[in-house]
Amino acid sequence: MADDKFSFTQEVERRRTFAIISHPDAGKTTLTEKFLLYGGAIRSAGSVKSRRSQKHAVSDWMEIEKQRGISVTSSVMQFEYDDFCINILDTPGHQDFSEDTYRTLMAADSAVMVIDCSKGVEDQTKKLFQVCKLRGIPIFTFINKMDRMGRDPFDLLEDIEKVLDIKSCPMNWPIGSGKDFKGVYNRYDNQIELFMDGNHGQSIAKAVKGQLGDEKFNPLIGHDLHEQLLGEIELLDIAGDHFDQKEVLKGNLTPVFFGSALTNFGVEPFLQSFLDMTPPPLARLSNQGNIDPKSENFTGFIFKIQANMNPAHRDRIAFLRICSGQFDKGMTVNHVQKGKKVKLAQPQQFVAQDRVVVDSAYPGDIIGIHDPGIFNIGDTLCKDASKIEYAGIPQFAPEHFARISTVNSLKRKQFLKGVTQLAEEGAIQVYRRPNMGVEELIIGVVGVLQFEVLEYRLKHEYGVELSMQQLPYRYLRWIEQDSYDVTKLALPMDTVLVENKHQQPVLLFQNEWSIKHILDRNEGIVLKEHS
Ligand code: G4P
Repeated sequence: MADDKFSFTQEVERRRTFAIISHPDAGKTTLTEKFLLYGGAIRSAGSVKSRRSQKHAVSDWMEIEKQRGISVTSSVMQFEYDDFCINILDTPGHQDFSEDTYRTLMAADSAVMVIDCSKGVEDQTKKLFQVCKLRGIPIFTFINKMDRMGRDPFDLLEDIEKVLDIKSCPMNWPIGSGKDFKGVYNRYDNQIELFMDGNHGQSIAKAVKGQLGDEKFNPLIGHDLHEQLLGEIELLDIAGDHFDQKEVLKGNLTPVFFGSALTNFGVEPFLQSFLDMTPPPLARLSNQGNIDPKSENFTGFIFKIQANMNPAHRDRIAFLRICSGQFDKGMTVNHVQKGKKVKLAQPQQFVAQDRVVVDSAYPGDIIGIHDPGIFNIGDTLCKDASKIEYAGIPQFAPEHFARISTVNSLKRKQFLKGVTQLAEEGAIQVYRRPNMGVEELIIGVVGVLQFEVLEYRLKHEYGVELSMQQLPYRYLRWIEQDSYDVTKLALPMDTVLVENKHQQPVLLFQNEWSIKHILDRNEGIVLKEHS
């Protein structure tokens, strides 16, 4: 949070805004909690988890989330560590996660990828990784659960390189594993850090540090483990990729750390190195070139809209990532796309686990602003009249589709209004068959849970009972419009042509084979995975 002891420039430079990505159960929640513990934002570990086990976590605003005990929408947390001001963007790992998860990554300056040492790279991680790669942001890897028997660390590095197609560079190396996980060896200052006690992860782990050759470690590590470590270090020096900060910043090389979020072993060495390496907010591309975060003009873009934070008021919160300038409570800004002035009253920030009203905020910060229905994903807000617009947030291809209509035809108007609003929020994507009426629509979502969210919200917010029939399509591709005359398309039986709200042609496929078939049979056609 803002603090008078820092100048504006220092406020920008001390900000670190990142997302944590992982497959469910790899330990993202536990690691986030341990960051908060080390930052002093919570006094003892266990609070985030116990809230979760009460099936009511902080980010579970929506009723449906409470019922299911999972996080549908992603949230944001801010805390301080060692003069850094950290914004963590939470990306739900649940397999039913939505497009929101992808969009959240648009607001992050880097990502931490948590991998379970017994599983290696898993499906959900792969998907989220691809979005980070698309943006070219730095990705840092934390190999978790080293207190359990897992795969060989060399194997895990190979897995990362092969499955994700990124070079890896271990920054530290585990000393033992499972019950014998004693500490880490830091390759870049030749230091050993042995962990003593973390009160089972409840409090900060104590550690003994010293040079690799220091004799005090002999009885602590034991002869065999020491020999093994020396052998592995030698192998790493010959075989591994070397650290290169420039390659890290470009997203071509991932620094790898080992640890156990549960016991806290390795959490602080990771946090410290990561904060030093990961960049502060950098210049962002707009229609007017790169915008320097330290410029005076306040700018930011909306990457997520969350409705129903308070069902009684049907309020919507728009999440704004600040890109430049200082934000002050109550300031009036230009809504560039709408050409309107908007007063930002009652903006909220998400500190540790609470929501507070924010007085000032800086580039890298995320603030929640009240949305009376005027914001869309990707909108830019700007203090002066310069009409800066940030590069748009891509639409990601949905993977599940359904045909929907209203059970009661008298409710057609509400049906359309609800569907349009939810599409504006980015919760669903809407398509129709060319020449088909609006009574029946096809919707696409990234995670199947979104169907339930849609049904629930249409019923509770718009009084509309839905009839829904899931469709067998799994893949969507946008047709580059001037690449092909769609009336001439030769389509296989299991593929359908629809159009989006801008009347652009879109194809829905049941399998990858059909995509290839279309490309082979329709010379010159260009299909895109992101719009
Ligand atoms: P997620 O957010 O990525 O889904 O994972 P989460 O942190 O919820 O962790 C999933 C499970 O893995 C939890 O166990 C958690 O305690 C455990 N875990 C996380 N980090 C470590 C680690 O470093 N070592 C070990 N051994 N386990 C770890 P659970 O049984 O599902 O939940 P709970 O009963 O512990 O709350």
